[in-house]
Amino acid sequence: MAMDPAMDPAMDLTDRGRQITSHAKGERSALGPRGRGLFGRLLDGIRGAPAVRREAVSIAVASGKGGTGKSFLATSLAVLLHRDGRRTTLVDCDFGLACDHLLLGIKPTLTLQQLLGGQATLDQVLCTSPCGPRLLPGASGVRRMAAPSDRELLAFARELGELAQREDVLVLDLGAGIAPATVLTMLGADWIVLVTQPEIAALVDAYAVVKCVAQLNDRARFLVVVNRVPVPGRGELAFQRLTEVARQHVGVELHYLGEIVDDGAVTQHRLGQLPLVATEPEAATSRCLRRLADRLGELCGGLQPREVPGDQGIEGRFKQHRLFL
Ligand SMILES: Nc1ncnc2c1ncn2[C@@H]1O[C@H](COP(=O)(O)OP(=O)(O)OP(=O)(O)O)[C@@H](O)[C@H]1O
Ligand SMILES: [Mg+2]
Repeated sequence: MAMDPAMDPAMDLTDRGRQITSHAKGERSALGPRGRGLFGRLLDGIRGAPAVRREAVSIAVASGKGGTGKSFLATSLAVLLHRDGRRTTLVDCDFGLACDHLLLGIKPTLTLQQLLGGQATLDQVLCTSPCGPRLLPGASGVRRMAAPSDRELLAFARELGELAQREDVLVLDLGAGIAPATVLTMLGADWIVLVTQPEIAALVDAYAVVKCVAQLNDRARFLVVVNRVPVPGRGELAFQRLTEVARQHVGVELHYLGEIVDDGAVTQHRLGQLPLVATEPEAATSRCLRRLADRLGELCGGLQPREVPGDQGIEGRFKQHRLFL
């Protein structure tokens, strides 16, 4: 492959990845001292082997650069998976600037903020959207929520574990980039759908996310969506460049989920407007999203809930990785 200079790993990609990894490993006390986590594990050991439980498949929708279309894709997938008969909850994990409730036409009164603060229960916070899937809404414009405390992260892990026992699929819509809580959620999920665009800045940032996450978990599984392609076929070309760099420089094999063309019809302009897949299921972009959802099912083993030992589910993985951030 002819390497674009901006994609040259000897240049900014490596430096970018290094910078990002050190950020993710940063000294933020919000993620808690190691000792506290180890103490927790010791307690788990004393309590004995955790029981096996049925858990939903969890899919984190992530990106390096902001505005690549994560929330659009996450809400669309949640609607489509619900219509397939899967019990689906969309979790708005964009801690500072949540917006999935707007995209699903919901006006929540309670959000993750009250749930993680202990002022509301999961059942009080969960909403059912007019299009079907449930939503765990995030807080928007609450600066403190943009950097959840260690206590809030542990509460979040517990609530995800609880939700996973009730549902078939959890779609986790993340904020852009590699804030610690975002990386942790990627590490806790079964699959990471990485949403990028064909432009170089978005591809470089997507690579940086792969590098950052793979250094913390070399078994992380990435599915790539190239959004807003100007012409059909451009997505696969962009994916080839990204996957080659990821294979060569971090030894990670990425999988291609598909592309979505740039289509002004997807943008929701007024409050209460529902996603395109719900209002115009036969539109070209809705059919494209349908194919993406089907392929997601194929690549993710049918998106079937499965039995896992209690400490190896999403809650356990989240808590375990928290020790190393
Ligand atoms: N395929 C597309 N064609 C045209 N516009 C699109 C497409 N996908 C997304 N958009 C538009 O791009 C904007 C950003 O999308 P979205 O909010 O889903 O991105 P995001 O990745 O969730 O952003 P953030 O990083 O801020 O969370 C929205 O206005 C959305 O309607
Ligand atoms: Mg978003």
